[in-house]
Amino acid sequence: MSALTQPVDRHAAVAADRQSGLQGGQGARIFAIVNQKGGVGKTTTAVNLATALAAAERRVLLIDLDPQGNASTGLGISRQARRVTSYDVLLGNLAVGSAIIPTPIPRLAIIPSSVDLSGAEIELVDQAEREFRLRKALGGAAEGFDYVLIDCPPSLGLLTLNALVAAQAVMVPLQCEFYALEGLSHLVRTIERVKRSLNPALDIQGVVLTMFDKRNNLSDLVAADVRGHFGAKVYDTVIPRNVRISEAPSHGKPVLLYDFRCSGAQAYIHLASEMLRREQQAAVLRA
Ligand SMILES: Nc1ncnc2c1ncn2[C@@H]1O[C@H](COP(=O)(O)OP(=O)(O)OP(=O)(O)O)[C@@H](O)[C@H]1O
Ligand SMILES: [Mg+2]
Repeated sequence: MSALTQPVDRHAAVAADRQSGLQGGQGARIFAIVNQKGGVGKTTTAVNLATALAAAERRVLLIDLDPQGNASTGLGISRQARRVTSYDVLLGNLAVGSAIIPTPIPRLAIIPSSVDLSGAEIELVDQAEREFRLRKALGGAAEGFDYVLIDCPPSLGLLTLNALVAAQAVMVPLQCEFYALEGLSHLVRTIERVKRSLNPALDIQGVVLTMFDKRNNLSDLVAADVRGHFGAKVYDTVIPRNVRISEAPSHGKPVLLYDFRCSGAQAYIHLASEMLRREQQAAVLRA
């Protein structure tokens, strides 16, 4: 049996669906994975959370909104397969449906990115409603999915702004290192400003601690500091520093496929369960 056909906390997932009506015709919930700091685990979280959600029988679309294209590479999408990309979607060159391609993981599709995207911020700058490009383009196309995850670049420029305007929820990966909280107040202020002026539906679902090293006291100190600052917004699940996580992208695989049993893969499965539980709670509050 492949790792992805194994039940992944399916009872909890099914119970959550029954109560919240999240599956089946309710439209996708769109998550932006955001932190303007580089190398904190955004792409790793996007790829592996998307895979864990697909394994829990959700239909998932991952949008690679970073010109680096790491999410596309991490899912084994070849350069040739990236003919229509998130660049075309943002610039309105083509219907969004033509940019969505399947991945080797059942129920997980991707809109890949290309280096063209690095010019998009400049190309969009004098265009009308430039922050709403992604939101408008996604429109009905998101209906076929339960979750859309957007992997953002390490900046708070127009690409990330498009993600924040298209999304209903934000997940912030935070690396367990000395400068973890630096720049975070700027990020939170940006999210609040977007919520006030462009997208009232937006909320931070949670902050996920990444690259936690249990042999290093600093990781504990940073984790305590972040929990002191963000309280219950911080997920209970902590992603450990795990060499299998860093090896997996060079094989074009999410860690769940590369080594299902390793601590990193298991942590992302737990994170998916916790995210779905929070979704259930949020749906109850919205009802
Ligand atoms: N839990 C982990 N354990 C070990 N290595 C990790 C872990 N999470 C991420 N990494 C590695 O750290 C590096 C940065 O991770 P990642 O690319 O996910 O960060 P990012 O925030 O998307 O970076 P960027 O801002 O450049 O887009 C990568 O080489 C990745 O493989
Ligand atoms: Mg990245």
